[in-house]
Amino acid sequence: MNEYRPGLERRLQRNLRRVSSQHRQLDEMYGHLLRALDDRVTKRAEDALRHFEEGLSAHFSLEEKHTFPAVHGAHPTCESALIALAQEHSVFRSDVERLGSLLSKGDWLGCDQLLDELALRLAQHEGREERLLEEEEEEKKKEEGRLEDR
Ligand SMILES: [Fe+2]
Ligand SMILES: [Fe+2]
Repeated sequence: MNEYRPGLERRLQRNLRRVSSQHRQLDEMYGHLLRALDDRVTKRAEDALRHFEEGLSAHFSLEEKHTFPAVHGAHPTCESALIALAQEHSVFRSDVERLGSLLSKGDWLGCDQLLDELALRLAQHEGREERLLEEEEEEKKKEEGRLEDR
């Protein structure tokens, strides 16, 4: 970053904290969904899936509308990583749709398999996002250190 922009950085940091805390909430929603699928009770599984889908959708919107543009604004070199993350959101959205259709057919094993696979990819996706955000934090601290040395 060539110039220090405190307003932009503060907004970015707020955004990043929200992203991390939403990742933890999504983990909980995923846990509920997993248990509901294990119990093989259709209504509970449908409710848990709806809840997970709403959480995921709100989270992706936050990232696509606010977080990614803010990261990009501060660090244009992250563009390709951000594009890849946004493309993965589309894949997760269609996975969740597929889960709904498997559930409506009563294909429990298909649901288990898809959810296992989705959970693994989602954990990797979140890990990459959090590393990107940690790099932001590091960058900001370095920038502040440089300012104090002036
Ligand atoms: Fe994401
Ligand atoms: Fe995320």
